[in-house]
Amino acid sequence: MSFVEYSEFIQEGDVAIIFLGHDSMMPIKVQQGAQTQTRYGVIRHSKDLIGQRFGTKVTCSKGGWVYVLHPTPELWTLNLPHRTQILYTTDIANITMMLELKPGSVVCESGTGSGSLSHAILRTIAPTGHLHTVEFHQQRAEKAAEEFREHRVGHLVTVRNQDVCKEGFGVTGVADAVFLDIPSPWEAIQHAKSAMKKQGGRVCSFSPCIEQVQKTCEALAGQGFEEISTVEVLLRVHEVRSITLPLPDFGPDKPLETPTDTRIPSNASVLCKTTTPPREMAGHTGYLTFATKPRM
Ligand SMILES: C[S@@+](CC[C@H](N)C(=O)[O-])C[C@H]1O[C@@H](n2cnc3c(N)ncnc32)[C@H](O)[C@@H]1O
Repeated sequence: MSFVEYSEFIQEGDVAIIFLGHDSMMPIKVQQGAQTQTRYGVIRHSKDLIGQRFGTKVTCSKGGWVYVLHPTPELWTLNLPHRTQILYTTDIANITMMLELKPGSVVCESGTGSGSLSHAILRTIAPTGHLHTVEFHQQRAEKAAEEFREHRVGHLVTVRNQDVCKEGFGVTGVADAVFLDIPSPWEAIQHAKSAMKKQGGRVCSFSPCIEQVQKTCEALAGQGFEEISTVEVLLRVHEVRSITLPLPDFGPDKPLETPTDTRIPSNASVLCKTTTPPREMAGHTGYLTFATKPRM
C-alpha cells in the first residue's frame, strides 16, 4: 500500500480505512495478531484483513459488516489525527489546481501541520516531483516525517524542522510552487521567492483573517509578484428530498356535463424528488491568496 499507488491486496504494515458508514470511518494500521474493536464487533487483522482485497466487505464478530478501503489523500483528510487545524478537500482542490501542480512539480510548503494538504500534494506530484515541507514545531515535524514513511511517500518529501520566516525552505531556485499556511505569511514571501525557479511559478497563502491577507498582498506586490488575487471557496451541499406537490386543476378540456364533473380530484398530488440547499452550511475557513512570480 502507498498513498500514491493503488495496491490490490492488504498486507502487514498497511494503513487501511475501516468504513462503518458515510459519517463513520477510522484509520487502522494492519498488524499480524492485532484486533480492532468496532460497534459491529471485533476485526481480527490476521484472519479478516491480511491477504484480502482492499474494498472487501468484512464481517465483524457480532455479525455486522464494514468495508476495508485503500487509503487516499481524500480519506486521510477526513480521518487523520488532528495535531493542528487542517485544510479540507474544498480548499485543497482549488489550491492544487491554481498552483498548477502536476506529476514532477517541485513544491515548498509551510507549515506542515497535520499533513492534510501535504498528502494531496504528494499524490499530485508523484512519481517524480518533490515536496519540501517546513514545520517549526519539532514533534509535529517528526510525526509528519514518520507518517510519510509509513504511507510509503517518504522518498517524495523532505521535512525540515525550522522557522520558515527566519530560515526559509532550505532550498533555492528549485520550486515550481510555494504554499503557506502560517500565522504571518508576509514574513515568508521573500523566502518563497528565492525558493522558486528563475522561470517563475505560483504561490498561494491560506489565512483566516482579512488583515493577514492585506499584509500578504502588500508583501507579494513588494517582491514583484504579479496576478495577485484572493478568493474564498465555499461548499454548498444540496440534499435530495421527496416532496408532494398538489396537481393544478386547469379546468375541464370540454364543458362539464354536470356541475360536480371534474377531470382532476381537488386533492390530487404528485410525489417528486427535488434538492434543497442546506439551511445551515460550513462557513468561512480562510482566504486563498494566489500570485505569480514572473520569469527573472
Ligand atoms: C494550521 S497548521 C497547517 C495545517 C496544514 N496545512 C494541514 O493541512 O494539515 C499551521 C502550522 O504551521 C506551523 N508554523 C507556524 N509558523 C511557522 C513558521 N514560522 N515556520 C514553520 N512552521 C510554522 C505551526 O506549528 C502549525 O503546525
